[in-house]
Amino acid sequence: PVLVVDYGAQYAQLIARRVREAQVYSEVVPHTTPVAEILERDPAAIILSGGPASVYADGAPGVDPVLFDAGVPVFGICYGFQVMAKALGGTVEHTGTREFGRTELEVVGGTLHEGLPTRHPVWMSHGDCVTEAPEGFEVTASSDGAPVAGFENLERRLAGVQYHPEVAHSPHGQEVLRRFLHDIAGVRPNWTTASIVDEQVERIRAQIGDGHAICGLSGGVDSAVAAALVQRAIGDRLTCVFVDHGLLRAGERAQVERDFVAATGVKLVTVDASERFLSALAGVTDPEQKRKIIGREFIRVFEQAARDVKAAGDVEFLVQGTLYPDVVESGGGAGTSNIKSHHNVGGLPDDLQFTLVEPLRMLFKDEVRRVGLELGLPETIVHRQPFPGPGLGIRIIGEVTAERLEILRAADAIAREEMSAAELDSDIWQCPVVLLANVRSVGVQGDSRTYGHPVVLRPVSSEDAMTADWARLPYDVLERISTRITNEVADVNRVVLDVTSKPPGTIEWE
Ligand code: XMP
Repeated sequence: PVLVVDYGAQYAQLIARRVREAQVYSEVVPHTTPVAEILERDPAAIILSGGPASVYADGAPGVDPVLFDAGVPVFGICYGFQVMAKALGGTVEHTGTREFGRTELEVVGGTLHEGLPTRHPVWMSHGDCVTEAPEGFEVTASSDGAPVAGFENLERRLAGVQYHPEVAHSPHGQEVLRRFLHDIAGVRPNWTTASIVDEQVERIRAQIGDGHAICGLSGGVDSAVAAALVQRAIGDRLTCVFVDHGLLRAGERAQVERDFVAATGVKLVTVDASERFLSALAGVTDPEQKRKIIGREFIRVFEQAARDVKAAGDVEFLVQGTLYPDVVESGGGAGTSNIKSHHNVGGLPDDLQFTLVEPLRMLFKDEVRRVGLELGLPETIVHRQPFPGPGLGIRIIGEVTAERLEILRAADAIAREEMSAAELDSDIWQCPVVLLANVRSVGVQGDSRTYGHPVVLRPVSSEDAMTADWARLPYDVLERISTRITNEVADVNRVVLDVTSKPPGTIEWE
């Protein structure tokens, strides 16, 4: 693999994704990993990422200079570039000139920037800068605030840049990364979707042998692709379980029962538990309470289904759609410390004892989608927008009842239909539709007074759901959605638009 050494500034994962876009497999490792351990993995190349520190700050992470004598190609980015300059005997100074954001880069020579426009924009973020390249290195670029904004030594296959080639704001960045990997490091581009599928299928077969596996389908992309991969590997020794908690949107159950099964031929057990969830939720209005109840009931229902499947044959393996960012963020590979709590089927009782199969553990979301398409899953499943596990249960403000679910389902279906018809699906991250069941407002329809509920549209754009902005939907689309919902959905007499970014608002209302 190409190993991306993470100096802890959230850039490492993005770099790893870009490397994979250049069809080279890459993984993130924390900067605390000893050089010997890094070299033991026989990396095809090493990339030192950006980081928040100044190389002169107390306790600033550095790099063991022996790394540069191992004959392995190394590329330094931003902080990694400075760490590299310092370790190789160049000069890094705190000149007081800082550059943040879009900056003009001047190409002065070398291979990495050859043929690119002599002046082109790049994305910078630095306080210190390299003022003198290490001996034997050619300076390849400069900018107003960075006299040495790039250097390379082709013989030793070492290079670096001060700017961030991995971000979209550096329009030639991907090309520069590609040149380092393919031309300077000589890494072969062989990481393709077909190779991912082949490799994972092999691994799954090796792990499961002639055993049996079970997989909980959530209706989301990850569990669907994980299941499809395992199905490809072990056929009908996989049983999928789909819990219908009655909080799904219109058509979602059919999408799993019909489209997913048609595409994969998977053996599917659907458990209809809507009654059970509705009675557990009766009288509950507190959002956290709702989430807890839904989570708890979900585990119980899945557990019973797993027991039933197990009783029919000896199932030892549980398939989960864990992705690479989750692995990195849970300490499986990065200096980043925040650990997210995942809502995968955790919390199963010990006596069920499954061995986990996680075929997506090394994949990023965009790779998962491509694998899904490669396996023949329909676009409607592969490009689904995120939908929370607790479903419509947390999109009804107030108590969840069967009648309110009907209302929300109808309004949500209209909003989705109109957005799809306007071809907006790829522009927005997701658009929760929320029923304010505890609010009524006065309206007038056909000469008579109404006293109905408002529905909120919450369209957002986002990269990763951690931050979001409200999406500027065209007025004519908003108009059609509003007209149709108020005309077609009984009890809704008002449609309002949520224009709050995240933060301060979250994407969901509960
Ligand atoms: P918030 O509302 O926190 O949501 O801005 C961020 C993203 O996570 C989704 N979400 C969930 N997904 N289980 C999930 O699988 C949950 O309990 C859950 N709650 C929120 C939300 O739709 C958004 O994409």
